[in-house]
Amino acid sequence: MTGKEDLFTPVHKGLRAMMYDLSTRLQTTDFTDRVATQALATDLEVDFAIARSAGCFLCAFAAHAHDEEKVVFPRSAAAANALVSELIRDHQGLTRRELEIGERARGLASLSSREERMAAGIHLNQLANDLFAAYFAHMNREETELVPVMREHFTDAEQAQMRGAIIAGFQPDRLFALLGWMLPALNVSELTDLIGSVKAGAPPPLMKAVAEIGAARVDADRWAVVRQNVGI
Ligand SMILES: [Fe+2]
Ligand SMILES: [Fe+2]
Repeated sequence: MTGKEDLFTPVHKGLRAMMYDLSTRLQTTDFTDRVATQALATDLEVDFAIARSAGCFLCAFAAHAHDEEKVVFPRSAAAANALVSELIRDHQGLTRRELEIGERARGLASLSSREERMAAGIHLNQLANDLFAAYFAHMNREETELVPVMREHFTDAEQAQMRGAIIAGFQPDRLFALLGWMLPALNVSELTDLIGSVKAGAPPPLMKAVAEIGAARVDADRWAVVRQNVGI
């Protein structure tokens, strides 16, 4: 059997968009400015349980890996044991980098000297670049190696059920924050499929909330085409 479901690429597009944005912020933040430095440190939180923003970057990266390990990898390990073991090992390396970045960011905000904050800001950029490089390579492997295995061993309905299990574990504010990155990162065809499936299967209040995120975040011309395609 060969299906066409892809549990990885759409959410990875959202995560990549977050990384591009975070990278730009890291490169342009004036670390002599304590307020800007503190704001960046807040958004770099590692742990959803203590984060002050539902869109915290490192939280989202860490939670994505956790979702894969909880729902997708246990099912796909029987078909691709060596690959899944390597992907889990990658996750451990990503987690180690994320924890160090979170710790450095918190420490940076509390440094009183401008010179120390500037030096620590340069180091934070370097650590983040290393995380992004590793994370990009990891997502490419999931998309090029694991997606074909999943299509061969699971029906589209089985994969859709796995996606449903992941989404069911999301807090609503976390889901909406992720959709705020993911929707503008998708092309018209992907958006049409996604919004069409939400329209077909989700309760009207959820559909309304998702449509509001699309209207606010997706490029206006692209969103108009999606609305026409889906009929909303
Ligand atoms: Fe992963
Ligand atoms: Fe992934």
